[in-house]
Amino acid sequence: MKIAVCPGSFDPVTKGHLDIITRASRLFDRVIVLVVINAAKTPSFTAEERMQLICRVTEDLPNVEVQSYSGLLADYVRDVGAVAIVKGLRAVSDFEYEFQMALANKKLNPGADTLFLTTAAENMYLSSSIVKQIAQFGGDIADFVPAQIVEDVKRRLCP
Ligand code: PNS
Repeated sequence: MKIAVCPGSFDPVTKGHLDIITRASRLFDRVIVLVVINAAKTPSFTAEERMQLICRVTEDLPNVEVQSYSGLLADYVRDVGAVAIVKGLRAVSDFEYEFQMALANKKLNPGADTLFLTTAAENMYLSSSIVKQIAQFGGDIADFVPAQIVEDVKRRLCP
């Protein structure tokens, strides 16, 4: 069984994330969406909330599950026996940092490769931070986050 891990902050999950998760679910037998807890960041949603939001938007993807983790991604990937880390690549600006992480993860765990899926054109500019900024100023986020969670995101972030 080929397992992939889709790691991220997912604060909150966006349509861009969901597109990458959905495409990964077609390429691998089992996909673990991993909410990575970064103690240095103050998220808008707790790890538990972020997991629940992802569970709701992926409930029609039977080979996708959601976990959380605070530690080295390479160690988690090894522990679950995954062969790939799947990430979305939006633009050249993403590349340098993602390339650095991919090389570091390969060094730490040579048994797994990082696979970059090019983001869908309509999600090129999309990020959780952009969604949060729009929601905080009362803007319409319906195009940016999956329909099932629009109200949850608004309730948390709208003034
Ligand atoms: O959604 P994000 O915030 O861009 O995701 C970044 C994430 C969580 C994938 C990255 O920060 C990560 O892998 N963190 C886990 C800690 C780790 O392994 N750091 C070394 C990476 S080389």
